[in-house]
Amino acid sequence: MNGFDAQWLRQRAPYDAAARSPRLAADFVAALGPRTSATLRLLDLAAGTGANFRALAPQIVHDQDWLLVDHDATLLARLPDEIMQWARHGGRRCEALRDGVRVHGDAGTVWCVRTRQLDLAGALESLDAAAFDGITTTAFLDLVSQAWLARLAAWLVASGRPVLATLTVDGRRLWQPACADDALIDDAFRRHQAGDKGFGPSLGPDATPALAGCLRARGYAVDTAPADWRIPADDAAMLLRMVDEAADVARETMPAVAGRVHDWRALRRDQVARAGLTLIVGHADLFARAPRASPVVRA
Ligand SMILES: C[S@@+](CC[C@H](N)C(=O)[O-])C[C@H]1O[C@@H](n2cnc3c(N)ncnc32)[C@H](O)[C@@H]1O
Repeated sequence: MNGFDAQWLRQRAPYDAAARSPRLAADFVAALGPRTSATLRLLDLAAGTGANFRALAPQIVHDQDWLLVDHDATLLARLPDEIMQWARHGGRRCEALRDGVRVHGDAGTVWCVRTRQLDLAGALESLDAAAFDGITTTAFLDLVSQAWLARLAAWLVASGRPVLATLTVDGRRLWQPACADDALIDDAFRRHQAGDKGFGPSLGPDATPALAGCLRARGYAVDTAPADWRIPADDAAMLLRMVDEAADVARETMPAVAGRVHDWRALRRDQVARAGLTLIVGHADLFARAPRASPVVRA
């Protein structure tokens, strides 16, 4: 099983927030009508501790009912506290529900969040996409396989609902200043991303174009935009995490070049200590919707 801890989700959250495409988020919000109920119903797949809800709810000036799905019981157990802390920090009233959280949002709106533990690899189709006005997911699709994406596309298109899939890695990593072994390290990282994370061989950086292809083939209109992390030289903790993670993966997958990996890590750690390293990690956002119904032509 693939483990993501709440501390890591918190550390990456400011980079995710800054990277998201405001244009695609606005398009998604605009596509949520026409409403089939007074309250908008949204489904977030692989929700972790609720980052997508926190990013999107304030952009939707409407009452909202969110269902946040993940297979990780530990993350889901943390989710209500994370949302309540966030709400209070933003000056919003909130209360715990038996199975979630209610936030008193902007302009008198009310946002309810409920959670469900579900293994999306096996049980995606147990969710009724048509029961929601829109489907979201963030920082998830690079974990899944081509076969699972095809299932996701079929499930989604049958509902006709719009989707916003944000912050999927696209394989670009730009270390500045560049050094000769960046390609060695980054290639190892990309190969590692292609491992099985519970869905079959992962698409990693190919996930956004693959989903775009599946959805276009089924008639959806698809738009994508870059959503890159830009890690500045003064965030040593984040840079060290990225350096160490990349070096660990490279050492594990290429023991024959352990000496070069060791030297790369030492150089990069030294640069971090002197605030002399920055990193861009490429991600992509995707928004897709069913084609607009053609106007009825009356004789
Ligand atoms: C990188 S985290 C992103 C979490 C959250 N969307 C965010 O941006 O903070 C990937 C998430 O996918 C979830 N996940 C991985 N495999 C899953 C599966 N088979 N079913 C449901 N969730 C899964 C993990 O538990 C984790 O919460």
